Amino acid sequence: MPHDAESNPRTVWFKALEPGELPEGRVKPVTCALRTVCMTHFAGKFAALDNRCPHQGGPLGEGSIENGLLRCPWHGWDYDPLTGKAPGYDDGVETFAIEEREDGIYVGIPAMPEHEPTVTDVMAETMVNWGIRHVWGMVGHSNLGLSDALRRQEAAGNWRARSNCCAAPSGR
Ligand code: FES
Repeated sequence: MPHDAESNPRTVWFKALEPGELPEGRVKPVTCALRTVCMTHFAGKFAALDNRCPHQGGPLGEGSIENGLLRCPWHGWDYDPLTGKAPGYDDGVETFAIEEREDGIYVGIPAMPEHEPTVTDVMAETMVNWGIRHVWGMVGHSNLGLSDALRRQEAAGNWRARSNCCAAPSGR
């Protein structure tokens, strides 16, 4: 399903391609913020598709356009290179808005939603209120929420991270 940049005021535009960078009939992966999009150039038009193949996540931007279809490099599923739809189906790959400007091709990516404070943010704020000013890193999936909360505290200037292993908060 395409993102409608005009109805979403929180779309962020990224320059994805320089003029003439992507030849007709070619594809290319491009990173826009936290997303990778598959840029396509086909039949004189450009498109931006989610780089992740719906089958098992193959990198569509490393695929190729064959017989008018974008072919995933992992298992060969095909998609329309402009609409992202799978032939014979109504669904397929997510697409993003594009704008062809004088200085290149831009992709509209929906902005990340505003962060909603969580219990881990309260934990991090409590640690700051206790006088903790340095953190010696954290590792492990179970710590990712707290790690994000600590990054937000660091961004706010409330403390500094010292390394990225072996969690060990300390005082001043
Ligand atoms: S991951 Fe794309 S066809 Fe399997």
